[in-house]
Amino acid sequence: MSTVLVTGGAGFIGSHTCVELLDAGFNIIVLDNFSNSKPESLRRIEKISGKSFKFYEADLLDLDAVNRVFDENPEIDAVIHFAGLKAVGESVSKPVEYYHNNITGTLMLIKAMRTHNVKRIVFSSSATVYGVNNPVPYVETMPTNSSTNPYGYTKVMIEQILKDVYAADNEWSISLLRYFNPIGAHSSGLIGEDPNGIPNNLFPYIQQVATGKREFLGVFGNDYDTPDGTGVRDYIHVVDLAKGHLCAVKYVMEHKGVEAVNLGTGKGSSVLDVLHAFEKACGKELPYKIMPRRAGDIDCYYAAPTKAKELFNWEAKYTIDDMCRDGWNFARQNPDGYGEG
Ligand code: WQD
Repeated sequence: MSTVLVTGGAGFIGSHTCVELLDAGFNIIVLDNFSNSKPESLRRIEKISGKSFKFYEADLLDLDAVNRVFDENPEIDAVIHFAGLKAVGESVSKPVEYYHNNITGTLMLIKAMRTHNVKRIVFSSSATVYGVNNPVPYVETMPTNSSTNPYGYTKVMIEQILKDVYAADNEWSISLLRYFNPIGAHSSGLIGEDPNGIPNNLFPYIQQVATGKREFLGVFGNDYDTPDGTGVRDYIHVVDLAKGHLCAVKYVMEHKGVEAVNLGTGKGSSVLDVLHAFEKACGKELPYKIMPRRAGDIDCYYAAPTKAKELFNWEAKYTIDDMCRDGWNFARQNPDGYGEG
C-alpha cells in the first residue's frame, strides 16, 4: 500500500486526516514541529486506528532534516502538506514570520521532494485565497490573487509556486484543497480542536464557553447583510474534510497536473446558527454579547462544491448538528484539550 508523508500531521486537520489514511490502509509518516500541536494527538491517532507509524519532530525550515526524512523513507509516494502558521490576526502583526515559515518551509519541502523524485503533493490551502471581491458561492475558476492578510497571501503565493513547479516539470501531480471553515471532532472524542491560548476562531471559542473556560461568546457584529445580521460561513465537519484529503491523495496517485478544489458543504450558517446548534448539543444556554465587527471579516461566504463531487466523487455528509455534537463530545472529554503532554 502507498506511503504518505503528512507534514503538520499532529494538528487539528492533520490528525483527523492521519486517522482516515490509516483506516484506508495507507502507511503514513508524520513530520511536525509542535509549534501549534502536541505529541498527545499522535498517541490518540494510534489509539483510534490501532496502528503505529513513524514520526519525525522536525521543522520544514531545516532542509537537512527534511532530506533525512526522505533519505530514510525511500518508499514515500506522496505528501500531504498541512504544516504552517494559520492565525489571520497574528499574521497581520507578524508578517515576516508568516512569510518565512509558510513559504520558505514549503520551498524546502518541494526541494527535498524533487531531490528524491517524489512529485505528488496535496496542499492545505484555504477559501481565504478568494479574497473579498468574488461573488458567492466561490468557484475554483474565480481569480485568487488577493487576500486581506499575510496568512491569506501565503496561501495565494504557495498555490502560485506549486502551479509554477508543474509548469516547469509536468511530472508533478498537485492538488490545492481550499478549505472553508473546518469544525467538529472525531466521533471517538479522542481528537479535536485544541488551539494554544485564546481561540481566534468561533467554534473552539464556543467549546470553551460550554466547558466554562470562557465566560461568554463575543459575537463580532450583528449588522451584516445576512438573515440574522451575524457573519455567515460554510462550516464543514473536520472528518468530511479529512475524507476529502483521502480522495485527493488517491487522485494525485493516478493523475498529473494541478487541480484547485473547494472542500465545503455549499451551505452557509450564521454565528447564531452555530451557537444555537451547540446549545442543543450540550443541553445548556450559552451566554453571548454582541461586540463590534472584527477587522477583515466579511458578511458571508460559502463554497460551490461541484468540482469536488465531479473530480473526487466527494461531498460533505455531516450537518451543523453533527459538527456540534462531535465538538461537544471532544470538549466535554477534554476540557483542557490535550493537556501539556
Ligand atoms: C467565523 C465567524 C466571525 C470568533 C478563518 C480564516 C480562514 C480559515 C478559517 C484557516 C465570523 C465570527 C469568530 C468569535 C465571532 N482558517 N466570530 N466571535 O474568520 O471565517 O475564517 O478561519 O484556513 O482562513 O480566515 O473563521 O471562526 O474566526 O470566524 O463572532 O469569537 O465567526 O466574525 O463571522 P473565519 P472564524
